[in-house]
Amino acid sequence: MALADFQEKHLPVVEKELLNFLQEQTSEPILLEAMNYSVKAGGKRLRPLLLLAVVAGFQKEITTGAYQTAAALEMIHTYSLIHDDLPAMDDDTLRRGQATNHVVYGEALAILAGDGLLTEAFHLLSRAQVPASEKLLLLQLLAEKAGAKGMVAGQVADIQGEGQQLDLAGLAAIHRRKTGDLLTFSLLAGGILAQQDPAVLTVLEQLAQHVGLAFQIRDDLLDVVATPEEVGKTTGHDAVAGKNTYPGLLGLEGAKKALATELAQASGKLTTMSQEYAFDTSLLQELLAKFEM
Ligand code: IPE
Ligand code: IPE
Ligand code: MG
Ligand code: MG
Ligand code: MG
Repeated sequence: MALADFQEKHLPVVEKELLNFLQEQTSEPILLEAMNYSVKAGGKRLRPLLLLAVVAGFQKEITTGAYQTAAALEMIHTYSLIHDDLPAMDDDTLRRGQATNHVVYGEALAILAGDGLLTEAFHLLSRAQVPASEKLLLLQLLAEKAGAKGMVAGQVADIQGEGQQLDLAGLAAIHRRKTGDLLTFSLLAGGILAQQDPAVLTVLEQLAQHVGLAFQIRDDLLDVVATPEEVGKTTGHDAVAGKNTYPGLLGLEGAKKALATELAQASGKLTTMSQEYAFDTSLLQELLAKFEM
């Protein structure tokens, strides 16, 4: 199945799981409105797509539990964007093609909408229709990758690094955590849901690390070369904010080269997965081709 058809078939189901759960679990109408505002604004749904594409690549059926896991993942991602845009963080006013959450609902509600999405993500995953042993693994892994040594730590390092010139290792350590770790969860969760053994998960994790770094290098590049209309968010802001970025450190051409290197390494891991584990790489290949710049 082509990626566009795959998306069209599966993403609406993720969406439904997500919106229904929030509706059921929220008692304050304005909180539901604020959470839905950011969720319904769309976004590429890259993380759910990666998760489901891995399950499909192992030729396993996509279960309700997989949709629910993907929905929980997108809730965590959406919370991270709401908080990332706050005045105390990146102070952005445009996200997913519309005014940022705090611009519309005020800072207090934006913080609380983020808190709600973060907490309800774990609530949804804990209730997901996934066998208990796999579910426990998914819960632990999501906490680890989104938490205080993963995405949150990466966001701290990103903020602390503002105005300082980090070296490439320091920069990569930010990107691996603030963006790479949640993408790593996306791919690993697909492997766990497809009941793969630890050796396969190790290769998936290596693949994910390249995908994750590639994605943030691309995001840094888009901040320099894209328009707000193209990406639905403020651009040209990283340099002004004194952020450490790949184009900032390596220049545009250097950053593009680093992106190409990560993508080539990801492609190598996909070949391994296809040859050694009978993994159908077509969806992921098509998706990664979109990362090229
Ligand atoms: C933006 O992520 C934040 C980063 C981690 C770079 P996406 O580019 O996936 O944002 P949406 O979900 O499409 O809005
Ligand atoms: C955001 O990185 C990473 C997370 C939200 C965890 P950025 O700050 O570069 O993301 P954008 O460019 O605002 O989407
Ligand atoms: Mg940021
Ligand atoms: Mg930002
Ligand atoms: Mg960015």
